[in-house]
Amino acid sequence: MIETLKDQQTIVVAAHRGWKSAYPENTLLAFQQAMELGADMLEFDLRFSKDRVIMIIHDETVDRTTNGSGKVSDFTMEELKQLDAGGWFGVVYAGIKIPTLEELCDLLADYPHVLLNVEIKSSPDAKEVADAAVSLLRERGILANCVFTSFDAEVIAHLHDEHGCRTQGFPGQLMSNYVSGPDGTISKMWAVGISMKLLTPQVVQEYREQGILPWCYSPDVEQQVYYALGCGSLLMTVNDPLPAMRIREQM
Ligand code: G3P
Ligand code: CA
Repeated sequence: MIETLKDQQTIVVAAHRGWKSAYPENTLLAFQQAMELGADMLEFDLRFSKDRVIMIIHDETVDRTTNGSGKVSDFTMEELKQLDAGGWFGVVYAGIKIPTLEELCDLLADYPHVLLNVEIKSSPDAKEVADAAVSLLRERGILANCVFTSFDAEVIAHLHDEHGCRTQGFPGQLMSNYVSGPDGTISKMWAVGISMKLLTPQVVQEYREQGILPWCYSPDVEQQVYYALGCGSLLMTVNDPLPAMRIREQM
């Protein structure tokens, strides 16, 4: 299924941290709502707890998205589960917990066609997080639906070389020894995440010529969606899936 993305003729919507614009990010509620809406893919962020459980949370600390304070890696999974990961977004979401990757896998059993963009956040143990995530996703029969992302070029190379995973890298990484061959053409990136600031038809064309799938983020209003389409980037990571989905219906 993931392979067909390279020949996709219509918009593919990846919900960034779930339906981030409407629900508390990286929560099961945000993921479920995005899938119910019809998003094709979920994007989410992984880190280890102190006891090396794979948690879904973006920041290095819990400060912004919970009622707690401190580094994620200083809390055990049980301690992280005591925190409120919804109240910061709105009082009606108070009491929502930080999910584990295992819990997301359970939820995905009801949505077997949804694809996953799994980001391994940069940290000293990022490769171990990647190893653990690959192992769990394989065990749960979901690995074939995954593209892995990291801003750490070493992690991209590790996922490619050790696990044979599809990866989404970023433009700066293409210059790195970790993700490209000496001539700059043998890339370990299956796809490339291009921010709206960098997105142009020329950039998209250049990556296509190298066999790397262009994948933009985050066209959240209709004008940006049309711009991304005009550039030739059909794969879109979005905070709000609605504009891209509305335009897709008209295509
Ligand atoms: O595809 C780009 C997206 O993964 C960026 O993620 O974690 O910087 O919001 P983040
Ligand atoms: Ca991310």
